Amino acid sequence: MTRKKILVTGGAGFVGSHLCERLLNEDHEVYCLDNFFTGQKQNIIHLLDKSYFELIRHDVIAPYLIEVDEIYNLACPASPIHYQYNPIKTMKTSVMGAINMLGLAKRVNAKILQASTSEVYGNPLIHPQPEKYWGNVNPIGERSCYDEGKRAAETLFSDYHKQNNVKIKIVRIFNTYGPRMHPNDGRVVSNFIVQALKNQDITVYGEGQQTRSFQYIDDLVVGLIKMMASPDSITGPVNIGNPNEFTILELAKKVIQLTQSKSKIVYEPLPSDDPMMRKPEISIAKKELNWSPSVCLDEGLEKTIAFFKSVL
Ligand SMILES: NC(=O)c1ccc[n+]([C@@H]2O[C@H](COP(=O)([O-])OP(=O)(O)OC[C@H]3O[C@@H](n4cnc5c(N)ncnc54)[C@H](O)[C@@H]3O)[C@@H](O)[C@H]2O)c1
Repeated sequence: MTRKKILVTGGAGFVGSHLCERLLNEDHEVYCLDNFFTGQKQNIIHLLDKSYFELIRHDVIAPYLIEVDEIYNLACPASPIHYQYNPIKTMKTSVMGAINMLGLAKRVNAKILQASTSEVYGNPLIHPQPEKYWGNVNPIGERSCYDEGKRAAETLFSDYHKQNNVKIKIVRIFNTYGPRMHPNDGRVVSNFIVQALKNQDITVYGEGQQTRSFQYIDDLVVGLIKMMASPDSITGPVNIGNPNEFTILELAKKVIQLTQSKSKIVYEPLPSDDPMMRKPEISIAKKELNWSPSVCLDEGLEKTIAFFKSVL
């Protein structure tokens, strides 16, 4: 096998660090680029002494030049607490980051994959969500900097492909969880596990009847790599997620049971624009990438709980 040079933006984050690790294990040369806004050195510290790993502190808002074969563009805060902290910066990261990385891909003739999101479907009126659904997104709400930034990035990817023949891959990632999630980023799985392990109240928004589909990180990483390896004609968007659907209340109960916690469930008002349903339609990923998730929620939660026990 020829060793590829691969740039991973956002490589020190939750998803990026797992991806960097897998690509190194597959014997590639990995450049991890990150501005450490939500990423942590701790996530990649075990990779720093590997000969084919290089860490670059850089912000994707500014152009960056490097000779690579492939680019995974993951740089963007993903949890509402972090992306709402500085919404203008979030939009800049998505849009200017996409322009800079697409410009680089064009210049060095690299394949480029965009980590898009199920948030492009907004509060969906179709269930489950197929890729052909255009979404129901509020352009001026609290989540818009993220949702619309990711939608604009998809447009840029698509136009660089049509106008400049850049080899693009758009993946719409659904809720993903696993070790190395930031304990304080407010995402539901990490929130519940941390609260349960500390025997604190578990906060459920609304009545907890909103649904989510939870994908374990290892399944996502396999999906991203398969998408990158797919023929150039497959540009996406392709949904990558686990279609097993649970209510938030079911998740809370499961976490309490698996952690044997004494936590009680408490209810708080729903945040604005919180989607009521989320479930990926994954027939394209199955057919085109021969991919489907293999880790069930109980197994993934157990591994994630073990991680949080070790860091708390
Ligand atoms: N985890 C999920 O459930 C999920 C779902 C859908 C989409 N995604 C997408 O996957 C990608 C990774 O998400 P994650 O869960 O690992 O989040 P994360 O916050 O852990 O990782 C994002 C990384 O990007 C870096 N970053 C942010 N802004 C940057 C900038 N301007 N320049 C350089 N680096 C920057 C952060 O420091 C961090 O390391 C994101 O693009 C996110 O939108 C994730």
